[in-house]
Amino acid sequence: MVASVVINQYAPTARINLAALRHNFNQVRLHAPASRVYSVIKANAYGHDLETVAAVLAANKTDGFAVARLDEALRLRHAGIAQPILVLEGANDGEDVTVAYQHHLTLVVHQTEQFDLIEHSTTPSHYAPLNVWLKVDTGMHRLGLATAQVPELLDRLNRHRDRACLCGLLTHLANADDPDDPLTARQCADLTALSVNAARDLSHPLPLCIGNSAGILRHPAARTNWVRPGIMLYGGSPLLNETAAQWQLQPVMTLTARLIARHELKRGDAVGYGGEFHCPEDMPVGVVAIGYGDGYPRHAPTGTPVLINNQRVQLIGRVSMDMITIDLRQQPNAKIGDSVVLWGAGLPVEEVAGWVGSSNYELLTRLAPRVQLNYDSSSAVNN
Ligand SMILES: Cc1ncc(COP(=O)(O)O)c(C=O)c1O
Repeated sequence: MVASVVINQYAPTARINLAALRHNFNQVRLHAPASRVYSVIKANAYGHDLETVAAVLAANKTDGFAVARLDEALRLRHAGIAQPILVLEGANDGEDVTVAYQHHLTLVVHQTEQFDLIEHSTTPSHYAPLNVWLKVDTGMHRLGLATAQVPELLDRLNRHRDRACLCGLLTHLANADDPDDPLTARQCADLTALSVNAARDLSHPLPLCIGNSAGILRHPAARTNWVRPGIMLYGGSPLLNETAAQWQLQPVMTLTARLIARHELKRGDAVGYGGEFHCPEDMPVGVVAIGYGDGYPRHAPTGTPVLINNQRVQLIGRVSMDMITIDLRQQPNAKIGDSVVLWGAGLPVEEVAGWVGSSNYELLTRLAPRVQLNYDSSSAVNN
């Protein structure tokens, strides 16, 4: 028997404002007008749906896409995306290299073993050389070649031009979210110096790829030949203590759910698992159909804001798998079926993340598959 799909009006919904996505992409162009842009759409486009976001940004003429893993790149090729696709973690084995040749993917090479795979691959004779970026560790100490390894790899690349074509040097900024941290300037300077040194042998400077969102907004030296914005595309602030609105970024995702019950509780009544919240007086309490099973953070404490009918009220008691409870004293007329905003338009995801001790990145990417995504191309853009 084939199960029929039921649209549940009461299921949590993430409204995805595609006009805001286009607006934010244009903000990238505004801040880095001379850079080419790899739009970072890993982790299901930070929870916004890989294929949909790719289609919108391809139409907006992004120069390429960046994903973490090969399977994400293949999803894009299968969806008909023809732009360059940069695989940030690169190849893990010979099979990955073959797939990269077949689908004309661009690989990061962050360790010499990855270039060994390319050098020993049996695939290349049928295909164009693989585009590769050498990733250099300039201070993040996660992925990347040591500076001293770069000349040898450049030499190997030069000897195997039939197999691989060098795009340039790439690095990732560790602390760019803090505009006062001196590491960012050092990282940019170190990669630039490497490119200048390489230029002496190659007779041309190597293109650089540095800026993430924070780098693009706050660090001119990170606005290199290519940049890699992620969170700012989705309207999230990449900067500590600075809001997205300050940078004219618009939230793309607004997570909503419905009020499914309301009660008049008595002073002293305990609410939810563990009875952590006791009503300080007789009060109306609402139940909203969203919980940690939908990706709403389990650790959101009493006091975390939500919007009901565009007004702020507070979450009370423990978050359950499918429900949260909210204090309706400020909204005594709220009724079953009313829409509740958990984050997005009117309630920045950063603010919720602050209550939870998490980040906008984590909240957006942890949305569960049972949350319905609803796309709206035409919605007015507001903060
Ligand atoms: C290597 C790399 N480049 C770029 C980005 C995009 O960063 P952001 O979302 O802060 O713009 C990420 C995100 O994690 C990344 O890992």
